[in-house]
Amino acid sequence: MLPETLLCLVNAALIQAATASLSLNAILSLNTQDIPSPPSFSLPAAQNLTITVAYCSSETVSTRFFVTNSTTVDDPGPDGGTNVYEIIVNQGLGTFSASFLDGGVLAIDGTLSDDFSFEIAASDRPMHEVLATFPLLGDTTSNQALLFSPPFDPPIFIDPSYPNYTLPGPSLASPSPPDSSPNFTLLIAPTSSQTLTSLPQTACMMASQSSSGNIANESLWLRDEDGWRTQWLMAGLSPQTNYTAPPYSLVP
Ligand SMILES: *[C@@H]1O[C@H](CO)[C@@H](O)[C@H](O)[C@H]1NC(C)=O
Ligand SMILES: *[C@@H]1O[C@H](CO)[C@@H](O)[C@H](O)[C@H]1NC(C)=O
Ligand SMILES: *[C@@H]1O[C@H](CO)[C@@H](O)[C@H](O)[C@H]1NC(C)=O
Ligand SMILES: *[C@@H]1O[C@H](CO)[C@@H](O)[C@H](O)[C@H]1NC(C)=O
Ligand SMILES: *[C@@H]1O[C@H](CO)[C@@H](O)[C@H](O)[C@H]1NC(C)=O
Ligand SMILES: *[C@@H]1O[C@H](CO)[C@@H](O)[C@H](O)[C@H]1NC(C)=O
Repeated sequence: MLPETLLCLVNAALIQAATASLSLNAILSLNTQDIPSPPSFSLPAAQNLTITVAYCSSETVSTRFFVTNSTTVDDPGPDGGTNVYEIIVNQGLGTFSASFLDGGVLAIDGTLSDDFSFEIAASDRPMHEVLATFPLLGDTTSNQALLFSPPFDPPIFIDPSYPNYTLPGPSLASPSPPDSSPNFTLLIAPTSSQTLTSLPQTACMMASQSSSGNIANESLWLRDEDGWRTQWLMAGLSPQTNYTAPPYSLVP
């Protein structure tokens, strides 16, 4: 039998160790095996904190994610309460933003299937997001396709204005490509197979999938006033087949 004070200390230590924490702007990758007990994480304080959940495996799970920005709730869950919110996961991605002036708690509710992997992040800038712009199809032959990434780095045009209406010279030099470009990963699969569309639409899920065809050439192209794009020449595709490129989320 342990003396009472020692028992208290042990208890206090257990409670303290039980809550893992999420650091600001860092992605935590988790698997069913490494969920802390209790399955909750303390959240950093921020004016506008965005909490994201991204599924990286395809198993269906009866798992729900709850957050609170209240310091009086230590286990947010389906029973609700003041300032307890559920993060709704849709197509593998869940996003919730609120002010967390005093920090808060994220809790996982329900059972996770074996070997389920996912990512969580608490950030004041996007860590997981669905891109607002999609890849663009340029042209196709029977087994090749020209594809473009979403645009980035739009060119800057300065219109002449009063009192200086100097027109540009007759032969303009073409703008030089940007020094750095977003690191896009292109992934396509036959539409009919639904291999990509049936999965969580997240970067960590898609990273483990293989793409149809092969990239014959990749370069930067200033296609229009929207900006530069990564241009891919895809080869080795099957004629008379529709392909899909999923709008996956981005992990910078
Ligand atoms: C908080 O951040 C999210 C994600 O960046 C954004 O969509 C939302 O508009 C922001 N809210 C406020 C009040 O600034
Ligand atoms: C918690 O979130 C609610 C809703 O967004 C907001 O009204 C409240 O001020 C937040 N509380 C704290 C302490 O940030
Ligand atoms: C007028 O504009 C041209 C082109 O932008 C520039 O090269 C020139 O220096 C400007 N002249 C004056 C007087 O500001
Ligand atoms: C782009 O991302 C891929 C996949 O994450 C990685 O393998 C590759 O090294 C990255 N390339 C650059 C230039 O950062
Ligand atoms: C890829 O395309 C660019 C631009 O059209 C060209 O300069 C380059 O030589 C091509 N690379 C290969 C490996 O074909
Ligand atoms: C490809 O998709 C288009 C538009 O949805 C459809 O009309 C066409 O029948 C499809 N072709 C094949 C070979 O599945």
